Amino acid sequence: MTSPVIVALDFPDEPSALSLVERLEPSLCRLKVGKELFTRLGPAFVEKLVDKGFDVFLDLKFHDIPNTVAAACDAAADLGVWMMNVHASGGRRMMEAARGRLEGKSHRPRLIAVTILTSLGEEDIREIGFCGSPAENVLRLAALAQSSGLDGVVCSPLEAAAIREQAGSDFLLVTPGVRPATASLDDQKRVMTPADAMAAGSSYLVIGRPVTGAEDPLKALEDINASI
Ligand code: C5P
Repeated sequence: MTSPVIVALDFPDEPSALSLVERLEPSLCRLKVGKELFTRLGPAFVEKLVDKGFDVFLDLKFHDIPNTVAAACDAAADLGVWMMNVHASGGRRMMEAARGRLEGKSHRPRLIAVTILTSLGEEDIREIGFCGSPAENVLRLAALAQSSGLDGVVCSPLEAAAIREQAGSDFLLVTPGVRPATASLDDQKRVMTPADAMAAGSSYLVIGRPVTGAEDPLKALEDINASI
């Protein structure tokens, strides 16, 4: 079974990203490409990772009118990515359009939603105009994503148990904010260990600096895999 770990390739340039990738193996992790790396290196870099045999999570969090998001998801699928995401607050029609477009592809990537960004607190979401607590909004948007046909959501491991209970066992929960007990928190505030996050219901763990910043990234990854 492939590991549930998705290593976040948060690097500013191709040589530093590739020097890590060369030390990893597709059987030990998947890879996440986010907005910084994609904006700098573009689709060719994603295809390079896919050609090396890695499952790639393209973390571009699309949020636009339904037609535009569906077309963007179609284009991402053509890169051969394994997973991609959109903002649930783009609404049901946007998510259904994206999901519908992927349905017709020979290779259908998993499509997940961002509910409420974990950087937003109570005050922030009230200012945007959302009622209720962040936790209530997360559950409401997770339910909307699920009923719009999406495969899962990105969430904090601290939200995982409640979403798992609401959404059932097949819904994917992809959780950043994961730290081995011995690792630095960096700028993450509310974290769980890999084992605790899995026990709380996570399907996949997004882990960046504990691997990318380790002296021996392969060993760090193997230790995390062994702990799960
Ligand atoms: O280095 P670290 O393990 O903190 O990296 C976590 C990754 O997950 C980063 O790419 C970060 O942007 C992403 N992420 C997060 N928290 C969220 C959503 C995404 O840390 N709520």
